[in-house]
Amino acid sequence: MLRAAFVVFSAFAIFSAASVLSASVAVAAEDKVWDLAERIGSGNFIAGKDKSRVELCQECHGEQGNATGVGVPHLAGQYADYILKQLRNFKSGERKHPVMNPMAQGLAEKEMGDIAAYFGSNNPMQGNGVKESGIGWNLFNRGDMKRNIMACKSCHGEHGKGQISANDIFPTIGGQRKLYLREQLFNWRAGSRNNSPDKVMNVIASALSDDEIEALSDYISGL
Ligand code: HEC
Ligand code: HEC
Repeated sequence: MLRAAFVVFSAFAIFSAASVLSASVAVAAEDKVWDLAERIGSGNFIAGKDKSRVELCQECHGEQGNATGVGVPHLAGQYADYILKQLRNFKSGERKHPVMNPMAQGLAEKEMGDIAAYFGSNNPMQGNGVKESGIGWNLFNRGDMKRNIMACKSCHGEHGKGQISANDIFPTIGGQRKLYLREQLFNWRAGSRNNSPDKVMNVIASALSDDEIEALSDYISGL
């Protein structure tokens, strides 16, 4: 009985999210409905829409997760399971930020999942295009194994849209805001952010120069 109700609800959730999606012209060709189910995770995105407004998340991250304030990341179309992990990390203090630590401390686990589902359900963040050459292109696509820099695309996906098969681990970075990307790469390099599995992002960022961080942020924000 319960299970039947759950199946009906899921079908409804996917259907209504799909119609929201098709209403927009900005949807990337590869962004299929089955990807959408992965992006939403296991939360209730309808409840999450309301909660993210009441909890003021939309004030900074935008109504649909497209932020405009300096240093504030987009959450639109980010994988819910990645968002949830970050909120848990902010809540426990494993990831530090003066605004996000108290914001996350006020949220119960269920609220986090629902809010994450809502932001994940929106049209994914999208950049304005990239030049297929230069320092940023090269490091993103090829890396530099002499310096232990793995190509970013090997984990973050060809267009920086993460990995559907391991979406709780590898976030979407393509189309993310340039200033935010730059800040995070500096934080990984300095070690002030150190919540990636096996410190993988600290290892990679520690080999990057300031100019390379600048070029990568520019390239990735355009994807
Ligand atoms: C006053 C502005 C503000 C409010 C309100 C706010 N945020 Fe944030 N949020 C930020 C900033 C700034 C960052 C970047 C933190 C950093 O640099 O590490 C951030 C980061 C995040 C991240 C990490 C994103 C990533 O790509 O890793 C998540 C998830 C997030 N916020 C969710 C929320 C949720 C959910 C709420 C509501 C409960 C919320 N935020 C409310 C400003 C805000
Ligand atoms: C071996 C896999 C791997 C490679 C290669 C990799 N990353 Fe990551 N990256 C991750 C993981 C895992 C996370 C999520 C960390 C967490 O859970 O907080 C991440 C997070 C990030 C974030 C933070 C995203 C956010 O929303 O806050 C940025 C920015 C980033 N990576 C940039 C890069 C760049 C640039 C490169 C290439 C120079 C790169 N990554 C290569 C695994 C990788």
